[in-house]
Amino acid sequence: MRVAVLNGVNLDVLDRRDPELYGGLGLSELEGRIYGWSKELDCTTRCRQTNHEGQYVDWCHDALDWADGVVINPGAWSHYSYAIRDAVELFTVPVVEVHLSRIEEREEWRRQSVIGELAAKRITGKGPEGYREALEFLAERR
Ligand code: DQA
Repeated sequence: MRVAVLNGVNLDVLDRRDPELYGGLGLSELEGRIYGWSKELDCTTRCRQTNHEGQYVDWCHDALDWADGVVINPGAWSHYSYAIRDAVELFTVPVVEVHLSRIEEREEWRRQSVIGELAAKRITGKGPEGYREALEFLAERR
């Protein structure tokens, strides 16, 4: 199974962000764990991160022709980017929306996700483990 993991804006500086919310680990460590879990689950995974919305949209388009499942954490774009929502809407394969922090319990503006209703599953507040759960969900559905 081929899985695209698309991390968005500010996730490149994860290790500089509030460790209470985000766990303190860096993006490369997070991606290392994702690749390790993927191996265990027999998934071929491609992790990508960008701070540029158009690039994120382009990677969604690339994944259309490649992935059998998609894990997305668009970061703050989740709360307002209709461009990313429109790109995510193109997927015919299952999409899992992951947030490291529990966005439902944070500021009012973070509680809504414009992508949420498109996701086959949403995982929030589980830190890096959320990505493992997302991969397991996709692997079970293969
Ligand atoms: C986040 C939550 C977003 O509200 C925030 O803007 C992020 C990270 C998370 O993983 O918890 O950048 O998506």
